[in-house]
Amino acid sequence: MSFEIDVSKEELGEIEGDVLVAFFCEGELSEARFEEVDGLVGGAFSATVRNRDFEGKVNQIVVLPTVKEVKIKRVCFVGLGERKKIDSSVYFGATSRAFIVCQKSKTASYVVLSDSKLEKKLKSHHFAGLTTKALALSTYHFGKYITKKDARLLDPQSLVFLSVSDAKSVKSGAARAQTIAASANWSRDLGNHPAGDMTPKSLADDVRRACKGTAVKVRVLDEEKMKSMGMGAILGVSKGSVEEAQMVIMEYKGGKKDDAPIVFCGKGITFDSGGISIKPSSKMDEMKFDMLGAAAVAGGVHAVAQLGLKVNAVGILACAENMPGASALRPGDILTARNKKTIEVLNTDAEGRLVLADALSYAAKYKPKYVVDFATLTGACIVALGTHYSGFFTQDKNVRTNMMKATKASGDPVWELPLGSEYTEHIKSKVADVKNTGRRGQAGGSSAAAFLQEFTDYSWGHVDMANAWNTSDGPTLHCGANGFGVHLIVSLASLSA
Ligand code: BES
Ligand code: MN
Ligand code: ZN
Repeated sequence: MSFEIDVSKEELGEIEGDVLVAFFCEGELSEARFEEVDGLVGGAFSATVRNRDFEGKVNQIVVLPTVKEVKIKRVCFVGLGERKKIDSSVYFGATSRAFIVCQKSKTASYVVLSDSKLEKKLKSHHFAGLTTKALALSTYHFGKYITKKDARLLDPQSLVFLSVSDAKSVKSGAARAQTIAASANWSRDLGNHPAGDMTPKSLADDVRRACKGTAVKVRVLDEEKMKSMGMGAILGVSKGSVEEAQMVIMEYKGGKKDDAPIVFCGKGITFDSGGISIKPSSKMDEMKFDMLGAAAVAGGVHAVAQLGLKVNAVGILACAENMPGASALRPGDILTARNKKTIEVLNTDAEGRLVLADALSYAAKYKPKYVVDFATLTGACIVALGTHYSGFFTQDKNVRTNMMKATKASGDPVWELPLGSEYTEHIKSKVADVKNTGRRGQAGGSSAAAFLQEFTDYSWGHVDMANAWNTSDGPTLHCGANGFGVHLIVSLASLSA
């Protein structure tokens, strides 16, 4: 899905398209510049305002049909609230909502009328980037398996920015955002496929296919190779499944030859049944999304390469299926990871940290600038934070600084949770170096992070993706994987480019 992007200086009455999107702030509805837009809808907008059906409050949306003399079919009036309170996230949320509403009425060609004060406040580049990203992400829907397509849900064909003050910045900001959003939507596709069709092997194949013709080199380690490399932890998880585990490695060299790369590791459990410590059946279907860490890393590194960022970046996707087959891992079994540490497996449902143990150990070979892993690792993190923020863990000052800048720049929300020796206590085993569970009911996100830390000997941070998928259609996104992490990875990489 890729739409055309353009800027235009045409008169309002001349512009063609399915919808004109126009923004209004609270308390500014009497200004002269609105008369022209009101004219397009034959005065119906001023009537709406008179009736107090539209006050410009944040996220208020009214769609009105235009008069027959003009070429645009309808106008979508979007409230942004008080002008002084508008920031990137207010603007992104309101535009996403507006685009979803427009999409419901057979819209494919979108015209966005710039508000010069708003464009100036957000900066032209960012204003266009937010708009483009909102359109691409909010209209994305996974319809692959629906044979009777909903005829009303069209993909966007074009996005035209009208009356912008800085056309060059608008164009470049929109193009960059479109590249990032395309990678994010590809990442969402990976997650939305059912687990029967998105096995570790098909995930690896999809990554290979998407990276063909890009500057990303893809290598895949199969089980035999992983065995020879001492990756006993991921192999332990994969034992109970008929699907072969795959360690997918994506290498991008956009920086200087000898620059230390940033390495991103992703949890790629294509289905998490829990294994012998089997999960309850309610909502188990959602565990097809347990590979969204890997999908975020795949999309992130793909986008970094498409943007041609001058940085070296590596993605390591630890892909396996967690099943309770006859040869499955048993509670009490002890595994040896690539860094030679032994792990007592007390719960086979704490499998994400096992596959990451080998991925993180392997990352050391790159002598990385730093490593960040992305994983749908614990239910405890969702209990702590809900599903807006993902949890972030580090003891490295530089990684923290970079992450805080990147969360702001990308709009992908993360919130820091504690990591430290207190939690390393929680994973002490009587029979092995560490155990894969913490203490019941206590800081499960932090003890999981402390476990991962045992497999790192470099600057490192960990993201526990509490924010990864939505089970129903929301006001800003259709249901399914939400693309969290892709833009965050691009922003992290940009800080070193
Ligand atoms: N993939 C799950 C965590 C998860 C569950 C994320 C639901 C999002 C939604 C993970 O593999 C898991 O099962 N973790 C266990 C760990 C426990 C057994 C120590 C958990 O959080 O209950
Ligand atoms: Mn699990
Ligand atoms: Zn899992």
